[in-house]
Amino acid sequence: MTAEATTFKIIPLSLALGAEIRGLDLSGPLDGETVAALRAAWLEHLVLLFRGQALDVEAQIRFAGYFGEPSEPRSGGGRDLDPRILLVTNIREDGRPIGVLPDGELQFHSDSAFLERPLMATVLYAVEVPGRGGETLFANAYRAWETLDAAQKRRLEGRHALNVYDYATQVKAGTLDRAGLPQAVHPVVRTHPETGRKALYVNRLMTEEILDVPPADSAALLDTLFAAIERPDRVYKHSWRKSDLVIWDNRCAQHARRDFPSDRTRLMRRVGIVGDVPV
Ligand code: SIN
Repeated sequence: MTAEATTFKIIPLSLALGAEIRGLDLSGPLDGETVAALRAAWLEHLVLLFRGQALDVEAQIRFAGYFGEPSEPRSGGGRDLDPRILLVTNIREDGRPIGVLPDGELQFHSDSAFLERPLMATVLYAVEVPGRGGETLFANAYRAWETLDAAQKRRLEGRHALNVYDYATQVKAGTLDRAGLPQAVHPVVRTHPETGRKALYVNRLMTEEILDVPPADSAALLDTLFAAIERPDRVYKHSWRKSDLVIWDNRCAQHARRDFPSDRTRLMRRVGIVGDVPV
């Protein structure tokens, strides 16, 4: 083992999921052993946090590249940034947001579940934080599946759900007008290709219905599943500090954002990592 791989520490962040990695500087390249050890920690903890990282765009993309292929988001990175960077921010120029997901609360979701090949992972870096509010909540979707009873599991195995997204919606009040919106059908429970574990793969922001069950049953079932995913004892709340870097696994973790004051700036740089078709 190299010095880097042997010296970093893994400190769990909650009983539900998440670990902080201490003792690594991500501003320069990492060796292969360190990357392998980080991946193992990530697969175990679902979310990794690195505090106090001075990272430019290049270093963030290099870090993301250790986990997979950085994606080029459809909605554009804003300004003249590298096309693999998406700004998540409430900064506006001429009244228009310079990034995406600008203000306030965001319901639980798994990134790009409305695409045929949703993102495998997301790497978010805090450039400027609001001081209060704007925490990101992470939920363990393995645990939500594993704690359903046998009858519920039998009812869900093999079922599929429709996921739809309206880029203008961060908190969904009812069903969406689906016409023209990106959408994809995915299994209600998916098997993680690396760990072999099953995780619930429906989410409050994007999942519209479970297919081939009566609409009222689908709505009731989804309410139960959302509550199972979002149960407070299955959630880690991350309070951001400037220069935090977080990577999460969209195949088994969901996330949401708490509201924050509109007069405080929040600026995050996001890199998504290409995923496969959920099965
Ligand atoms: C996201 O869902 O990608 C953004 C999360 C956040 O702003 O905390």
